[in-house]
Amino acid sequence: MLTAAKQTMDYQTHEHDVLVIGAGGAGLRAAIEASAADVSVGLVCKSLLGKAHTVMAEGGMAASLGNVDDRDAWSVHFADTMRGGQYMNNARMAELHAKEAPDRVRELEAWGAVFDRTPDGRILQRNFGGHKYPRLAHVGDRTGLEMIRTLQDHGIHQGIDVHMECTVLTLLKDGERVIGAFAYDRERGRFQVFHARAVVLATGGIGKAFRITSNSWEYTGDGHALAYDAGADLIDMEFIQFHPTGMVWPPSVRGILVTEGVRGEGGVLKNKDDHRFMFDDIPDLYKNQTADNEDEGWRYTQGDKEARRPPELLTRDHVARCIVREVREGRGSEHGGVYLDIAWIKERLSNGAEHIKKKLPSMYHQFKQLASIDITAEAMEVGPTTHYVMGGVRVDADTQMSSVPGLFAAGECAAGLHGANRLGGNSLSDLLVFGRRAGEYAATFAKEHDAGAVNTDQVEGVARRALEPFAREGEGPYKVQQELQGTMQDLVGIVRQDDEMRRALDEIAKLRERADRVAVIGNREYNAGWHTALDLPHLMTVSEAVTRAAIERQESRGAHFREDHLGKDEAWAKINLVVRKVGDGSMQVVREPVPALPAELAKIIEENR
Ligand code: FUM
Repeated sequence: MLTAAKQTMDYQTHEHDVLVIGAGGAGLRAAIEASAADVSVGLVCKSLLGKAHTVMAEGGMAASLGNVDDRDAWSVHFADTMRGGQYMNNARMAELHAKEAPDRVRELEAWGAVFDRTPDGRILQRNFGGHKYPRLAHVGDRTGLEMIRTLQDHGIHQGIDVHMECTVLTLLKDGERVIGAFAYDRERGRFQVFHARAVVLATGGIGKAFRITSNSWEYTGDGHALAYDAGADLIDMEFIQFHPTGMVWPPSVRGILVTEGVRGEGGVLKNKDDHRFMFDDIPDLYKNQTADNEDEGWRYTQGDKEARRPPELLTRDHVARCIVREVREGRGSEHGGVYLDIAWIKERLSNGAEHIKKKLPSMYHQFKQLASIDITAEAMEVGPTTHYVMGGVRVDADTQMSSVPGLFAAGECAAGLHGANRLGGNSLSDLLVFGRRAGEYAATFAKEHDAGAVNTDQVEGVARRALEPFAREGEGPYKVQQELQGTMQDLVGIVRQDDEMRRALDEIAKLRERADRVAVIGNREYNAGWHTALDLPHLMTVSEAVTRAAIERQESRGAHFREDHLGKDEAWAKINLVVRKVGDGSMQVVREPVPALPAELAKIIEENR
């Protein structure tokens, strides 16, 4: 098997059996599994190891352990995930996820994750939106961080080669097969060729295509765009998750996540008139849900209105839209959000302030330090923030291989599990379940195939183009990036309509032309302007994919809300939109049927309505 690294004149070459691109939860888990299968593994991170959007899944990971409510089972988790995804999910993925998540959580614990405990010492689970029972195994409000810490500690003992601060520009192919990647390192700006028998994409999301986002600078849709350029199909790109609660004030912190765990611990949403507006609109799909804790029924009523669960824990798409409605109709908070109040629980608990600090330590510090708000005494101001993309690389449910041989994808950059809307907490378990599967099957693929040949013309062409911004004069990359983010936020955001999205498409085309001409100054070492220039093509690709798919889907479903096509349309219920690159290099959106639902899974859904 291949392991060495050799230096050539213009780029370094690294040889691995399996190359994993992205080192969040999915990438780390894939690398661990591949390594355990006795192949050499390279792990490329855009940032420093450990810095990943995974840590923004704060409130917990969903798994039907049944530790808090023993009525929970994989079948209920499966049915909740399908309902949350408006039945657009790949049912086989939802089945595998629900069945395997408990083992992945227990495995993480065995590797050292320190979960909060029930009084009798089992892993504690909390409520989250759309989950019928308390299901989220958590570590205060730092669950994603604990997961990364644990996987990292475990992974570094497996002999994985880690390439930090390295950004991939293109995937390398030999015929139809992917055989590696071409990248640059941020520190010195040197080019790197990664030659591999199988490649796993685990690059996370596309949040930086929008102005207000919980994502940090790395999330420019790299994996989505790399796969698309290599000929893979993308699906579900119209479904972008706007998490209902990001910070709104002060402006410098706008978009930073306020975990759903706040609502899971009893936080309530109110408008400026102190009205708990989430009672005003309970969707039919959730009207019949039984209350979990009848003794806490007091939480679920307001005046003559009643919800069978805390209405703040309806699915994220719905909560985000209710917040937008309040703000648009003039009932928002001072800085254009609404209020999220957890301090009220002091009325119920004598040690309320301590309880809040114990359950939500990061939120307490975040608001204290960034907004001078004491959440044990005052309400937070919150509003929607772009958090997650349900769409991504179309993969085989069992193996995670894309439609391109040798190319695998897992985690947020893959699609299928979440359908039209992801339930909170399902992402961390997704990363573990499908990261493991991608690692296993990529290792098998690597053992069964030779290394293929690197096409030096391809490599040199990409390297030449990457250096062109240094040779140009003209506009810098930041303004182009900023205008793209404004376009996506304002024209393809939470509430969409045809004419606005068509305007966005025109804008993206013009911005793409500008992106092709941007100039940068300075040298190749840690040149943030150059890095931004190189991110732009990926951002353009994912923005165009989201916009084209969103125009095409003429209905409102899950996270995709069309003001000009209100409500779900049965004709769209079983249609996936597939985005692919066609021969002339243009982007095509085609309609394909959602994979069929096997009778035994349909029965489970029926039994759990
Ligand atoms: O709100 C949160 O803690 C986020 C969780 C998630 O996106 O799964």
